[in-house]
Amino acid sequence: MRSLIDIQELTTDEINELIAVACDIIDNGAKYSEACRGKKLATMFFEPSTRTRLSFEAAMYELGGNVISVSNAESSSAAKGESVADTAKTISCYADIIAMRHPKEGAPLVAAMNASVPVINAGDGGHNHPTQTLTDLLTIYREKGRLDNMTIGLCGDLKFGRTVHSLISAMSRYTGIKFILISPEELKVPSYVKRDILKKNDIPYVQTTDFESVIPELDILYMTRVQRERFFNEEDYLRLKDRYILTPDKLASAKPDLKILHPLPRVNEISVAIDSDPRACYFKQVYYGKIARMSLILKLLEVKI
Ligand code: CP
Repeated sequence: MRSLIDIQELTTDEINELIAVACDIIDNGAKYSEACRGKKLATMFFEPSTRTRLSFEAAMYELGGNVISVSNAESSSAAKGESVADTAKTISCYADIIAMRHPKEGAPLVAAMNASVPVINAGDGGHNHPTQTLTDLLTIYREKGRLDNMTIGLCGDLKFGRTVHSLISAMSRYTGIKFILISPEELKVPSYVKRDILKKNDIPYVQTTDFESVIPELDILYMTRVQRERFFNEEDYLRLKDRYILTPDKLASAKPDLKILHPLPRVNEISVAIDSDPRACYFKQVYYGKIARMSLILKLLEVKI
């Protein structure tokens, strides 16, 4: 039995296989409609979510399975002080697989250590979000036709943005990848990401605060929102929140085949005028998120088609 807490637990071959199955789901969806008949997914979300929770639930329904759900901490016995470990043991009695989001880093790992069914980390604090990364990889693969040889710009809150850390980790496995890390000084990528992933693997990267000067170089632009909920004071958030806003004039110098991604939710960092630009992929990315999660559920439940 396997869980997924960190994208690094998957080999590159496994990631490529998950993407291949996802592509087959896109092309031959009917083949998978009974794949999880009789199986139950429990979604345990102790932090707000729209896309991750609902895409997991839609994924399980599209595989013919069922869903039980805890949609906020206040509505579960966590509010009475029940531990993550006891909650995981309990949910294991009801479900075949668990997707958990929690504000505390490491909580899904604790759940996986105590559950008797696979646990998927659906986002833990500012740490990791591996299924968003699978979503991002599938989006890049489908929209660019490859996962290698490209320059990826990551822009915004690179300190607290857990999707950024997981994406750097995953894309660093592929050849010819260069990162341009665009953020205010206060929201730079954590030093452990630079040390343990970028420097350790000799991945070229540039850190800059100047968004506009690097736009012409990019094959992928991954925008992120400033993560208000992780700030210690509102004043800092207000000072930094609108530092980078992607507007049509900034795209004038961009490559025609640039792909713009965003894990969403968007706050202010991409103008709605960009939504109709053919380079905008963030709503396609939402669709790919459901497909990527279908592929992962099949893998962890060891369902063969
Ligand atoms: N991308 C993402 O995790 O969105 P939600 O917070 O809505 O789940």
